[in-house]
Formats: sequence, C-alpha cells, structure tokens
Amino acid sequence: MQSNEKIAKLHFLQEAQTSKEPFMQSFIDEQKKLLIEQVGGEPVLLLISGGVDSTVLGALLLKILPAEQVHLMYMNTGLMRKNETASVKQTLEKLGAKHLHIVQCEDEFLSALKGVTDPETKRKIIGDMFITIQEREVARLGLPETYFLAQGTIYPDIVESGKNLSGSAPKANVIKSHHNVGSPLVNAKREAGKVIEPFSSFYKEDVRNLGRFLGVDKNIVNRHPFPGPGIAVRIIGEVTKEKCDILREADAVYIDELHERGLYDKIWQAFAILLPIRSVGVKNEERVYGHVLALRAINSKDAMTAEVYPFETHDLLGISKRITDSVKEIGRVTYDITAKPPATIEWE
Ligand code: XMP
Repeated sequence: MQSNEKIAKLHFLQEAQTSKEPFMQSFIDEQKKLLIEQVGGEPVLLLISGGVDSTVLGALLLKILPAEQVHLMYMNTGLMRKNETASVKQTLEKLGAKHLHIVQCEDEFLSALKGVTDPETKRKIIGDMFITIQEREVARLGLPETYFLAQGTIYPDIVESGKNLSGSAPKANVIKSHHNVGSPLVNAKREAGKVIEPFSSFYKEDVRNLGRFLGVDKNIVNRHPFPGPGIAVRIIGEVTKEKCDILREADAVYIDELHERGLYDKIWQAFAILLPIRSVGVKNEERVYGHVLALRAINSKDAMTAEVYPFETHDLLGISKRITDSVKEIGRVTYDITAKPPATIEWE
C-alpha cells in the first residue's frame, strides 16, 4: 500500500475514534516505520512557514528522527505577522531543533513586489521568489543531493491548487495559486521519490490534534491558518514596508482583543485587511486622512466554505475603538460580512 493511502486509511480510522490518543500514537508509530524505511540516514529538509502545519510536521520529524538529521529552514519574507520570526525560532528550539536556518529576505520580497497591484501577479512573484531563495539557500546548506524534502501540505492545499499529489490530472479548478505544492525543487524531489508529506490527507483539525499530542505550544497549535503569500494578500494594491508595518500592528491588536475577549478559539480564522483607500476623520481635533481597515472573522471546517462569525455588537465596537486608538494610521474600521462562497476567505 502506498504511504498516502495508508495515511488516508488512518485518517478515516480517526473519524471513527472517540478518543484521539490511540490514533495519534498509532499514526506516529506508523510514520516512524515508514520514515525510517524511506529516508534511512539521509538528511530531511523542512521549509517552515510559521503556521500550524509546518510547525507540527517539524515536531513530528524531531520526535521520529535524530535532531541532527532534521534541517529546518524559515524565510523572513517581511510578509509575516508581528513577532513571527522570533516566535518561530523559540518554538522550534523548544522542540529540539539543532539545524534551524533563518533566512532574512524581506528586502528581496519587497523589491520584487514594488509597483505590483494584481493579486495573481503578487502571488506569482512571491511564489517565484520563494523558489529562487529556496534554491539558493538550500544550495548554501551544502546538503547531499540525496536529501529528502518534507512538506506540511494538507488536503485542502492540494484540492485548491487543482492538482493531486502526483501532479497529474486536476481534481479541481485552480482557485488561487498556492506556492507550496509545485515548485521546481519540489517537483524534482517528487520525481526522485524524495518528498515526504505525512499530512496530505489531513484537515487542519487533524494536524492540530497531532500537534497537541506532540506537546507543541498551545498558542501555535490553536493559531489560525495563515496563507503562504502572507500579508501581501491582505494589503489590497501595492505592498510597501510601511503598509506591512501598519497592517501587522493593527492585526496584532485585533488578535489580542480576540484573546482578551475569550473569542479567539471560537473563531476558525480572523485577520485584518488594509484597504487601498483613505478616508477623512478627526484625531486629536485635527483633520486626518487615515487608512481604512477591514476585519474578517469566519468559521469553517476545512476552508472550502466559510460562514461569517456573528460578533456581538459590543465586541465589534470595542475592537474597532482599540484599533483606531492604538494604531494612529488607521482612521476607519469595517467588518466583512461575506460568506465563502461567494467570497474567498482571503481578499486576494
Ligand atoms: P481562500 O482565500 O482561498 O483561502 O478562501 C482558504 C484558506 O487557505 C488559506 N490560503 C492559503 N494558504 N497558501 C496557503 O498555504 C496560499 O497561497 C493561500 N491562500 C489562501 C487562507 O488563509 C484560508 O485559510
């Protein structure tokens, strides 16, 4: 049986479990057998995005394989959330990572995005830049040709990219291009039979359950999903460092408010979007022309469909007030009340 079929079978077994623990242990045992058989003593490289999937995969690899064999690479693209790089570093070191390569490439990403406003062009540029830097930095690591590439790809990533795992017949139309499924490096590794994707039949909740079982920090495990292209798809129009900093700050305030109000874990995904319009306002008795921020909060099972989170009015008003009080560049806040479909979760 192919490993993916085995995993799919385990996934369905999990559905039948009332307690998840026996499933988790058997999944880890199974993966341990498969991985050791497949990779032997070769190095395994995992590209860490900072999100739940790749972090939990890092934890799984570090649990199964000797830390010396596991190489983790994280790119600070400048398109990450506030304090993300420091928190990724801390989490992975706590999980026992010995080879953690943090690539500082903010300037490269922002220069490539200069003047670009079309959403798909942005995604393409970011995807290509990931590939360029990935290839350069992987070469710099000096790993032997025979290394394996592990990916935290989950089932919805594959379906929404319009590809199945072997990269052949499309399963669904391409909705948005996802960079993490088919880069030349990944394709070459896949052709060589050197890609490891233990979560390819998992939904987000399966990954979270495994993360909890592996003792990954609850703030990471419960963290809302974050798109590969980062906040670039949450800044409508041209992406600049200044806009990234404003959005990061406003988003951090929004997320902090959700934690304070006990709402964060009741929501599947929440984030802020910086709109390409300004609006007139008054701050400290002066007329200002501030940025407009949209807030999104949705509930979903698998990101294929989503419903709007029905905030209590006082929560929305309180969140809006704290954002405009603490982020001086934001002059107005709106709430996105559109389900998926017809809208997608991200704005671009
Ligand atoms: P959409 O916006 O398509 O998003 O409704 C569905 C889910 O996927 C996330 N998303 C991405 N994840 N790479 C990713 O790894 C991407 O390019 C990407 N685009 C969207 C989005 O945040 C939501 O959870």
